Amino acid sequence: MEWKPNRDDQKPLYKQIAAYFEAEISSGHLPPASTLPSERALAATYAVNRSTIVAAYAELESMGLVTRQKGSGTKVSSDIWGLLNKRMPNWNHYVEAGSVLPNFPIVQRLREQSKDDRIINFMSGELSSDLFPTEQFQTILSSHRFTENLGYDEPQGNERLRAVIAEHVQAYRNIQTDASSILITSGAQQALHLIVQGLLQQGDAVAIEDPSYCCYTLPLFRSAGLHVHLVKPDNNGIRPADLIELHKKHRIRMIFLNPDFQNPTGTVLSLERRKKILDISSEFGIPVIEDDPYSLTSAGEFNQPTLKSLGLNGNVLYISSLSKIVASGLRVGWVIGPHPVIQRLADIKQQVDFGHSIFPQWVAKEFLDSAYFPHHISLLRQKLERRKQEMVTSLQALLPEQVEYETPQGGIHLWCKINGLSNENRLIEEAIKKGVIFTPGRIMGSESGFVRFTYGRGNEQQIREGIKRFKEALIESTMT
Ligand SMILES: Cc1ncc(COP(=O)(O)O)c(C=O)c1O
Repeated sequence: MEWKPNRDDQKPLYKQIAAYFEAEISSGHLPPASTLPSERALAATYAVNRSTIVAAYAELESMGLVTRQKGSGTKVSSDIWGLLNKRMPNWNHYVEAGSVLPNFPIVQRLREQSKDDRIINFMSGELSSDLFPTEQFQTILSSHRFTENLGYDEPQGNERLRAVIAEHVQAYRNIQTDASSILITSGAQQALHLIVQGLLQQGDAVAIEDPSYCCYTLPLFRSAGLHVHLVKPDNNGIRPADLIELHKKHRIRMIFLNPDFQNPTGTVLSLERRKKILDISSEFGIPVIEDDPYSLTSAGEFNQPTLKSLGLNGNVLYISSLSKIVASGLRVGWVIGPHPVIQRLADIKQQVDFGHSIFPQWVAKEFLDSAYFPHHISLLRQKLERRKQEMVTSLQALLPEQVEYETPQGGIHLWCKINGLSNENRLIEEAIKKGVIFTPGRIMGSESGFVRFTYGRGNEQQIREGIKRFKEALIESTMT
């Protein structure tokens, strides 16, 4: 605490201390229900008599700003709004207003836990830091020449990065495109957001897979006032007939798909279904959003064609990103689509953030365009495969009856059905106590009794230990 009472000031010390805490409370630095330092500790910090602190806290209490209880100390009152009407807006009111719905509370709670280093994190859908190409980035940063313009760039993103991405998607996903049909985004997430905001209207019906990453980002769809219809996949992805039925009932305006190593199930949409879905798209004029962040993660041969490369009449908007194959913190993703659509999305992106920062774009361009990238991808695939095998082996050894799953060919997640799971909340809490977190299935879809373990987020030893902790939590959660 840097502030100290001023002994040369005419104002009594207790009044200065009370005024300081009043300001801290009113600025929000000390939020409602937070605990103030103990009288003894604060007296020592300020080198004053304890009775001075008692008087200062009594002053705050008389203003209604704090409550004092024997045993639990002095806390900021839970409802201070209005008491500070001299200078404080009612932030509660503002916080609850706004057109964007909050994230699911359980996501916020688990994210808090993930900051603790002792926790084994199977929840965050990303690679662990040892899989990031940090050293290669260091070499690029220290030895490649940076000659980019540091002003506002083109709304579609850095042209040279777009050209490199055009080559990348041609080489790896057989997509023919050029720089003018690409928009650089802050990850695939921003691409989804721009599409929802820019191409759809309140009341529009959209189809998403259940479970899926889109279910996880449901607040994004709901905030835009969309009617979200869920389609359940089987082992070959969603059934085209389900889409037709849905369209007949609700006039679907857009279909969101994650065809390759779907998050969270790991399924791959079969070629036959890809073609049928494209036929439906053409017949009814419904655009398909192909979200493809995982297709380069497979250790084995994987050559399922993208919907984008099959659907040559511009029905597909193709999204991808470097988050799951390079680094999630880079925040580089892209959308590929017809010019008017890309320009519309770029215009919205410009209104939101005046375009993407040049630095991640420059590093991404240098990395993708170098020999580092193929080398990195091939190593990444091998390492992910080993982690997946480790998770499967650990589950087979420790929970052979309780956990069911299909081992995916790629991706970074394992989607598991937990047999006999009766109290999901209790399992989450017990797991936190044991030091492991995972994604509860219900935030990725409508059905309960599932969990998603992200094996890309831990090394083999952490995976073994994490599954052991999970088993203990599962046993604990079923005890009465
Ligand atoms: C299918 C899918 N789409 C999009 C995203 C968003 O990723 P990012 O914005 O980091 O590229 C994720 C992240 O988990 C995902 O799984």
